[in-house]
Amino acid sequence: MSRTVYVNGDYLPEEEAKVSVFDRGFLMADGVYEVTSVLNGKLIDFDGHCKRLARSLTELEMTNPHSNAEWLAIHRELVARNGIDEGMVYLQVTRGNPGDRDFAYPPADTAPTVVLFTQAKPGLADSPAAKTGWRVISVPDIRWHRRDIKTVQLLYPSMAKMAAKKAGVDDAWLVEDGFVTEGTSNNAYIVKGNKIITRALSSDILHGITRAAVLRFAKEAQMEVEERNFTIDEAQKADEAFITSASAFVMPVVEIDGAAVGTGAVGRVATRMREIYLDEMRKAAV
Ligand code: PDD
Repeated sequence: MSRTVYVNGDYLPEEEAKVSVFDRGFLMADGVYEVTSVLNGKLIDFDGHCKRLARSLTELEMTNPHSNAEWLAIHRELVARNGIDEGMVYLQVTRGNPGDRDFAYPPADTAPTVVLFTQAKPGLADSPAAKTGWRVISVPDIRWHRRDIKTVQLLYPSMAKMAAKKAGVDDAWLVEDGFVTEGTSNNAYIVKGNKIITRALSSDILHGITRAAVLRFAKEAQMEVEERNFTIDEAQKADEAFITSASAFVMPVVEIDGAAVGTGAVGRVATRMREIYLDEMRKAAV
């Protein structure tokens, strides 16, 4: 069945939704995005995603085309029109259509292109993968150096995901100067005893909305949190590993480059953090 998607103020059948060939999102990857999960028809951590969207736009000198209340109304309308119970809302804002190709930004009053669509994912919260864990490989992180901006230039993460697929595993962890930065589309963690270790925020990684929530819940649950770099070797020798993202929530990682992490089974901390995250976020969902 055809989805209803949102393009620049209109709700349209997906076949009728159109964007210009001169759109800077298409020609230059000049745009930013957000992915918000939907559980029980409600949006998870919506405020967090709005804040990061605003930050990404500011960093690229783009104007936010909507207030948070307007963004919420559009998200809710799409969820309702598409009957989404579990799934995602994808949002993209590009610098719009200047009418021709040019490296320089068009005038600031050029209308941005705003596109949103839903993806139904029945069973998202109850994912079987959360019970068996992901296996990952490591690959060099050769992305640009403003990974804190959530831009739509996702070719390298896509290539890394394909390398993982070819290796018969679930994802790739990106490594720069000997240290893990993050996963292809998620933040990376290891667990040692009662301590959760994850890379500190900088322009080296995306400032995950799920990361912020999970670290807050971990501290509330009396776990120690250490924000520092770690290597693949340290991760392989850790008690547990996991990743977080808006679409995978908290996902255990049980194998890195062929070596079992801890016992090789899904860990206690990752499982507990997934439960807490889902419980708390369902309560706060809008
Ligand atoms: N990806 N790091 C990268 C490189 C990401 O692309 C993402 C999210 C994250 C986790 O951020 P958050 O917790 O805010 O989702 C970290 C989204 C889910 C995607 O591209 O589909």
